[in-house]
Amino acid sequence: MSGELRARRVVETLKEYHPPLGGRGGLRLDFNENVDGCSPRVLETLHSMTSETLNKYPEREPGEQAVAHNLGISSQQVLLTNGVDEAIHLLAETYLEPGDETLIAVPTFSMYEIYALATGSVVRTVQSGEDLSFPAAELLRAITPKTRLICIANPNNPTGAIATREQLLAILHAAPQAAVLIDEAYIHFGAESLLGQLGSIENLFVSRTFSKAYGLAGFRLGALLGSASQLKMLRRVASPYNVNGIALTCLSAALDDHEYLAGYIAQVLEGRSRLERFYRDRNIPYWPSQANFVLAYFGEFRTPFVSEMRNRGILVRDRNSDPGCAGCVRITLGNRLQTQRLLRELPEALASINFALQPRPTLAAKEAQ
Ligand SMILES: Cc1ncc(COP(=O)(O)O)c(C=O)c1O
Repeated sequence: MSGELRARRVVETLKEYHPPLGGRGGLRLDFNENVDGCSPRVLETLHSMTSETLNKYPEREPGEQAVAHNLGISSQQVLLTNGVDEAIHLLAETYLEPGDETLIAVPTFSMYEIYALATGSVVRTVQSGEDLSFPAAELLRAITPKTRLICIANPNNPTGAIATREQLLAILHAAPQAAVLIDEAYIHFGAESLLGQLGSIENLFVSRTFSKAYGLAGFRLGALLGSASQLKMLRRVASPYNVNGIALTCLSAALDDHEYLAGYIAQVLEGRSRLERFYRDRNIPYWPSQANFVLAYFGEFRTPFVSEMRNRGILVRDRNSDPGCAGCVRITLGNRLQTQRLLRELPEALASINFALQPRPTLAAKEAQ
């Protein structure tokens, strides 16, 4: 045997995905994390840990029981994962043969496409319209007998748009041969959950994360919920120790602190209304959001705006390269004090870059260019 070592062909053609994490000081309103913190009960549990948490292989099942209890489902319907990222990866590994089709509506969370492409699947994208609302009819029309995975974030990132229960049920029923992931990473901030349908629809998967409302992005803890018989298949693919012992030890403390969670969500929702009002009052185009962030249009001022905010110690996220989001910036909401700071800095930042309103070009006009 001779020759150079090469990655699989699909891997060589994958785009590199580097979230801009480097040097993220200041107020981080760029990654939809909970920038308020996390439950103090989680911190207490962390401080009371012994070496056993570290020297023992972690046991996932008690954590799955705790999540099942919290959500009112059975533990066979829960697979804990290394963040929702791993849940998507496992779905792709379990269901996709090379050449199978994966369907996503864009713009949306990037990892659906990356994991699907890495298996050799063909990714079909359906563009959301001008208003960036969920393109339900177009997605339904794009389903073929080869569709084996459909990923839908509800609420969606980066738009904050939601899909209705009827739209999602129609898609689930139109593609019984496909694993349909309803990614409920932002469900604490809006949209109707499809969790109640778990027992009755075999191809439905719902994902939840501890990275957003719970404030535990560093733990890398997510949950994939689905029918017991399908999750059995996914457990074959998952590493037995995919979730680390520190996260598992703190999980119950996070779930049980309803007060922290409710208090934080209330502050985000209030902040979201205030930010949307700010945009409305200034006629800055924005997309009404059901998540913990708002996407708005700054046109040519997007780059100076992002860097002026950074100079003021606030990180916001340029979404210009997402399909249909040219000129757009996404801002995550934090707690009440953080929103006050944001709303103090925003008008000053806009004034210092001499921001002027610009009409947003239509998608059709952009395509014609
Ligand atoms: C829709 C959506 N799903 C999943 C994730 C990632 O979740 P996790 O941190 O659990 O991997 C994100 C993160 O931004 C997201 O926007």
